[in-house]
Amino acid sequence: MHTELLPVSPESIARGGELIRAGRLVAFPTETVYGLGANALDAEAVKSIFEAKGRPGDNPLIVHISALEQLSPLIEGEPSPAARALMDACWPGPMTLIFPKSALVPAEVTAGLDTVAVRFPAHPAARALIDAAGLPIAAPSANRSGRPSPTEAAHVLEDMDGRIPLILDGGGCQVGLESTVIDMTGGTPRILRPGGVTPAQIEAICGGVSVDDAVMRPLKEGERPRSPGMKYRHYAPTGDLTIVRGAAEDVIRAIRGLYDAALAAGRSPLILALSGHIADYGDRRTLSLGANETEMARAMFARLRDADALGADALFSEAVPEDGMGLAVMNRLGRAAAFHILEV
Ligand code: TXA
Ligand code: MG
Repeated sequence: MHTELLPVSPESIARGGELIRAGRLVAFPTETVYGLGANALDAEAVKSIFEAKGRPGDNPLIVHISALEQLSPLIEGEPSPAARALMDACWPGPMTLIFPKSALVPAEVTAGLDTVAVRFPAHPAARALIDAAGLPIAAPSANRSGRPSPTEAAHVLEDMDGRIPLILDGGGCQVGLESTVIDMTGGTPRILRPGGVTPAQIEAICGGVSVDDAVMRPLKEGERPRSPGMKYRHYAPTGDLTIVRGAAEDVIRAIRGLYDAALAAGRSPLILALSGHIADYGDRRTLSLGANETEMARAMFARLRDADALGADALFSEAVPEDGMGLAVMNRLGRAAAFHILEV
């Protein structure tokens, strides 16, 4: 299959809408990461998402809408007052809410669960594509399963060339990490995946929030997670990744030592560091993650791809504090490292 890469324009959006209506796949930009979209109401189209990604069939997809009225046909019952408050404050935006599903949503989308994840993205191209299709669009991140999520059209092409007919190029993604996934089926909103909307924001909007404890640890043997996505070692670079956490000067000293030992052992090490610390590593090989958590969120997936391209087989990354966007950054970095975190 030939994969077309077209800049976002009224013509390319119209073409994307036609493809979605015809049951085909279209990759498109959102403010978080690029999505791989199909008609959410067409079970066969949705199956082809799993094939193109090599995604395990038990990991459910997010359904994307472009107007609030599109929510109620997808869910059973009415959103709670807390859900309404979150929708008012954070939609359109980097937030996904989980509701009991209606019969309209095929089991292929929800991987057989009786709940459905819904997001109203802010990116104008994403909304225009949903409008052009005239349908809700089921979309996971547009990477091959196990690869870092794509934050540029070139990343999508790397993973999906020959597998899908169209990639819409809308430039780099603003947030850079996937949406916050919040389970609204219980009393208090529960964060299953941290993202662009932070726990403090949610707390301020609905007066309460909990963070699933599996967000910052590996799953136990045989444990059934609340979100199937927690099971998989996502965002994995090819090399071994170790995260080092502690006071800045201790972290820098420890990483220098680890790097030098890896080099002496004949390995090909690489350091991922905040921009302000790069000089402290001297002539060791480094990649900058940016100046703070927000920049780190935007840069992280691209740098993990770079690390692979450089052939690094021993990666050492600085940690950031787990508040604000830092929780989402550390969740992704932690999972890329299989939660191999060294405290210094
Ligand atoms: O920002 C995003 O959310 C991006 C863009 C494209 O919108 N999408 C994305 O989709 O990250 P994906 O498929 O890579 O991640 C969806 C996550 C998975 O961890 C999945 O397990 C969880 O949402 N999920 C989906 N439906 C669920 C449900 N009904 N219950 C629990 N978790 C669910
Ligand atoms: Mg993903």
